Amino acid sequence: MTDARQLKIEAARAALAHVGEGMRLGIGTGSTAEEFVRLLAAAVADGLTVIGVPTSERTALLCRDLGVPLSTLDDTPELDLTVDGADEIDPALNLVKGGGGALLREKIVAAASVRMIVIADETKLVEDLGRFPLPIEVNRFGLRATEIAVAAAAETLGLSGPITLRLKDGEPFGTDGGHLILDASFGLIRDPRALSSALHAIPGVVEHGLFLGMASVAIVAGEGGARTIGAREQSGSIPT
Ligand code: A5P
Repeated sequence: MTDARQLKIEAARAALAHVGEGMRLGIGTGSTAEEFVRLLAAAVADGLTVIGVPTSERTALLCRDLGVPLSTLDDTPELDLTVDGADEIDPALNLVKGGGGALLREKIVAAASVRMIVIADETKLVEDLGRFPLPIEVNRFGLRATEIAVAAAAETLGLSGPITLRLKDGEPFGTDGGHLILDASFGLIRDPRALSSALHAIPGVVEHGLFLGMASVAIVAGEGGARTIGAREQSGSIPT
């Protein structure tokens, strides 16, 4: 097993300790969230009772394969906890998400949860968001006009850089909701709230990958093990 995978497993294991009997769980997407699903499935096999709401078709498939009981957000609209990965985590626990293309459902599920725990290896920690291209989910209609509007909105905030339509196997990548993804390499995002508002004001933008003030804690694994970072501590940490 690679060291990188081992770190994801350690973060996922620490998150599992926050899962209690009978919880309604939002279940994230990506390689780190998948390690959480595997550990959760083992706990379910050992008798833990939970109900999960997956944030993507990919996660739903894995949960079904491994025997994690699932519901939908329509049937279970209020969740106790969501556990999900991230592409970047800043000291205030603002996140960039969407590297796996599931950002819209991830954000809807996280917003329906009392708490969100983000799990990652420590390479995801950054001082300022923006090293990772920002995924922006857009409607297929008017793609070019939306792209121009995104560039213009960014420019008003002093941000610029390539905006690339995400492809998969040479074709535009389609999200679970049937939309497209623009990956925006704006560089460091010093005012994520302003960028979030500016993007939300564009009609063709369905959602973006800035998750601001949503995570309650981050569980980050590195060589020294997994540590839990609280949203209010900024650079401080709480021992797990
Ligand atoms: C999925 O759309 C993303 O938000 C993932 O949560 C994020 O890309 C982290 O993925 P990894 O755990 O695979 O790095």
